[in-house]
Amino acid sequence: IREQLQEVAQPASWNILNAGLVACTRCPLHGPATQIVPGAGPHDAPLMIVGEQPGDQEDLAGVPFVGPAGQLFDHLAARAGLDRGAAYVTNAVKHFKFKEGAKRRLHVNPNTSEVEHCKFWLQTEVQLLKPRLILALGGTATGALTGTAAGVMKRRGTVEQTAHGPVLITLHPSALLRMPDSARPQAEADVIADLTLAARMLA
Ligand code: URA
Repeated sequence: IREQLQEVAQPASWNILNAGLVACTRCPLHGPATQIVPGAGPHDAPLMIVGEQPGDQEDLAGVPFVGPAGQLFDHLAARAGLDRGAAYVTNAVKHFKFKEGAKRRLHVNPNTSEVEHCKFWLQTEVQLLKPRLILALGGTATGALTGTAAGVMKRRGTVEQTAHGPVLITLHPSALLRMPDSARPQAEADVIADLTLAARMLA
């Protein structure tokens, strides 16, 4: 019954959204995760930043983008003149998906079904926030917001018009962290250019 209620009732306030998120059992990821990681930031922010899913540190803290990817993003945003603190930051999938490694929990990509189930929350966040611009970080966020995750490298730096409003696509900071050193400076320059465009669009 709870699942059915969740289907019909699109939360009409941030409080109802957060209560629904805490109780969410739409997909199996709620089981192993420490906690749900809701979006964070001002509820009147003109910019919504969407990542993939919480990582290990975010799962423990209950706050998005506080780990290494978030720190790299903050660094690149500062260089682009984009104030992350003024943005609402969230993820396409709100529970950490992982497998146990020898030393630590290892990130596993969310599958299509998990992204689909979590879209209900992402759509609600867009409806409540009404951002002027959405910044999609990487393939999962791009897929959740535009309908296809394909070709993010080619689509980055472009703004696509979607049912959620304009979506600016850029690379995910975790992708930069995984790159060989030789590729990283160009990728960082690309992301800084995209974030500069976002800052200009909102100025
Ligand atoms: N990567 C993401 O996509 N989101 C986070 O919150 C942290 C890392």
